[in-house]
Amino acid sequence: MAEQASINLGLEGVYFDESMICKVDGVEGKLYYRGYPIEALAEHSNFEEVSYLLLYGKLPTKPELESFSSLLSSNREIEPQVLEYIKTMAGKSHAMHVLRTAISMEASLDKQADEATPEANLLKSSRLIAKTGSIVAAIGRLSMGAKYVEPDKSLGHAENFLHMLQGEKPEPEKAKMLDLMMVLHAEHSSNASTFSTIVTGSTLSDLYSAAVSGIGTLKGPLHGGADERALKMLYDIGKPENTESYINGILSSKERVMGFGHRVYKTYDPRARIIKKYLTKIQSDSTEEVQNLASIALAAEKMMVERLGKSHNIWPNVDFFSGPVYRHIGIPIEIFTPLFAVSRMPGWCAHMLEYWGNNRLIRPLDYYKGPLDLKYVPIEQR
Ligand code: CMC
Repeated sequence: MAEQASINLGLEGVYFDESMICKVDGVEGKLYYRGYPIEALAEHSNFEEVSYLLLYGKLPTKPELESFSSLLSSNREIEPQVLEYIKTMAGKSHAMHVLRTAISMEASLDKQADEATPEANLLKSSRLIAKTGSIVAAIGRLSMGAKYVEPDKSLGHAENFLHMLQGEKPEPEKAKMLDLMMVLHAEHSSNASTFSTIVTGSTLSDLYSAAVSGIGTLKGPLHGGADERALKMLYDIGKPENTESYINGILSSKERVMGFGHRVYKTYDPRARIIKKYLTKIQSDSTEEVQNLASIALAAEKMMVERLGKSHNIWPNVDFFSGPVYRHIGIPIEIFTPLFAVSRMPGWCAHMLEYWGNNRLIRPLDYYKGPLDLKYVPIEQR
């Protein structure tokens, strides 16, 4: 009976372990990676350094960062069989399906896939971080019908991503902005995709399988898929003056405005605050399309904050302002969620490595409330 079992739907409010990786303060609207405030990392760090911080638990020295960055760049090559698969499927199926399968294929081609030492798992983490970037850039480029571009070892992670996606060395301002977006998305404690990554790893399955679980979970519109949906909404709204009636329509039909609300943040998501600042900066200095999207986004945010902010604790989350910024950088909407996976890979790997340090099989209970001892009736008699 329900009174004997304490049920937390959606595991809301349940702590399943301790962690040293990330603190999300949903009351104050603060986020820390390994103790460092996200604002400081956004301003001073970069994706490679944050990946190192998450995986190794400390900021790297200069030589450590150089050797980690070159480990990443030397692992950017996509295996030929995987590239062939991407060439066959890109543009024909949702990019998250293609990414999920491509990472599974990489696993089957990695001789170390089932080697479970901490050293092997750290190496596989860097492979996963590096290859996911190349794979998503290739999916994006081949989906547009353009020719595959090889990774360039001399470029940073974000810069190389844009080079492989767009076929030319990116403008430094755009590469820097993508790098910032990657930093902001790199980690977020035990969110749904990180949790499913850990659930898979807790069976002592391998790191690739765990990452593939994370990718599958990230795809959903309540999680990583929200940025794609939020941008589609901005396109649907079309012009700033349509914003009010459009949002009213969503709210009166009790649907959700994508890019708002959060299970943990009951205040403004600090990542959304940072992205909003950059969006406001680029607003007057971008294409007509981005300027329009930015104006709609800012109008929608103002309205939602007034209507649902303080009264219902529903505030913009990281996914709301991302779309116009990605469009400014020249990223197609089809790879928004896969790009989230590129950014989140260090977080998934760091959690998996930490959890394996004190592994316990995750196996919660559900409370069965159906009938018992039913009489089996042979099929001919039903
Ligand atoms: N628009 C309108 N109403 C909302 C929204 C929203 N975006 N989010 C929550 N609500 C309402 C919801 O309808 C419910 O109202 P009522 O109590 O009257 O039924 C109330 O707020 C509580 O909602 P909930 O679903 O119980 O809250 P939750 O903590 O489970 O929700 C959430 C978290 C992220 C699933 C939800 O806010 C949502 O669906 N947001 C839209 C999707 C989205 O932006 N997801 C990205 C999350 S952040 C980044 C990431 O994880 O990838």
